[in-house]
Amino acid sequence: MAVLSNNPHKAIAATLFIVAFVSLSLHFTDAQVGVCYGMLGDNLPTEKDVVHLYKSNGIRAMRLYSPNLATLQALQGSGIKLMLDVPNETVPSLASSDPSSAMQWVTTYVVPFASSIKYIVVGNEIHPSDKQASSVLPAMQNVLNALKQNKLGDLIKVSTSIDTTLIVNSYPPSDGQFNDTSSSYTAPIIKFLSTNKSPLLVNVYTYFAYVSNQRDISLNYALFTSPGTVVTDPNNNKNYKNLFDAMVDSVYAALAKAGAPNTAVVVSETGWPSDGGDAATVNNAGTYYRNLINHVEQGTPLRPGQAIETYLFAMFDEDKKIGANTERNFGLFTPTKHPKYGQLNFS
Ligand SMILES: *[C@@H]1O[C@H](CO)[C@@H](O)[C@H](O)[C@H]1NC(C)=O
Ligand SMILES: *[C@@H]1O[C@H](CO)[C@@H](O)[C@H](O)[C@H]1NC(C)=O
Repeated sequence: MAVLSNNPHKAIAATLFIVAFVSLSLHFTDAQVGVCYGMLGDNLPTEKDVVHLYKSNGIRAMRLYSPNLATLQALQGSGIKLMLDVPNETVPSLASSDPSSAMQWVTTYVVPFASSIKYIVVGNEIHPSDKQASSVLPAMQNVLNALKQNKLGDLIKVSTSIDTTLIVNSYPPSDGQFNDTSSSYTAPIIKFLSTNKSPLLVNVYTYFAYVSNQRDISLNYALFTSPGTVVTDPNNNKNYKNLFDAMVDSVYAALAKAGAPNTAVVVSETGWPSDGGDAATVNNAGTYYRNLINHVEQGTPLRPGQAIETYLFAMFDEDKKIGANTERNFGLFTPTKHPKYGQLNFS
């Protein structure tokens, strides 16, 4: 800086360069792997203990499915970044043409905790035929407006979380596209994301893809254990060794076809159950989580070198989760805080 100070333009350029460099490095030091904190158990540790467990394991990002105040408070000063859901049932009230409910929600749950919050997720796995579907986009817009009025519009990204059933033709990955029948739901949401430079959040389960099609999908492909290429995409010659990359790239292909080639994908859930169904074993689940954590920084064949920000599902086995037996066996930890898969390396 000193040698440049006789030239104000160069000094400004150098300052801008340093600012750009610092924000770039901050970006790269952001956590790539977070863990979803589901609370549907009657035997789970207190919120404070859970935040402590995240910290002691080096987990630096959390997805939280509802704005639980005890958790939001415990996160203060922890350095853990948060993906915070507007629960499905709250979405319609935030979609009202009267923006005061969205403002109230943001004022209560976001503003006091803003330094921890990275994303607001407006609805999880809402399908076009669900009753809340028509509320998703207006609620996203109202939440964003409320953030902007609190000068948080650039710091916190507003999105929604989808499952991969909205993507059709995902084999080969480059053929992926959003289901035409639901484009009146997806297209305006994608436009919102691309206009506001928000990522699309996608729940990606190679486990469910594998169990529903064991004839065509090998366990190795689903668990990142294939020694070499399993699928070569004939449209672009990209080579796939694992199904996770193929699923993420089918979403990138769909976004490009929907006019949003620059919209990023964040994996808002992924996991493998340890019990309760085909191939649901402690051994397979441990293999999945370890390999996934080692893999995500490499990016996918369509986005090589671009780390895939990924949230593992979930922190604990949740005994009150409804649905198939596998649903209650996705924890990385038992309710008594024992790691099911040894020490995972989240850094
Ligand atoms: C939200 O609703 C959708 C559709 O009804 C459902 O599939 C999903 O599991 C729900 N998510 C949560 C977190 O309740
Ligand atoms: C596309 O969406 C429609 C309406 O939800 C559904 O009936 C159809 O099966 C979907 N197509 C595919 C290929 O999933």
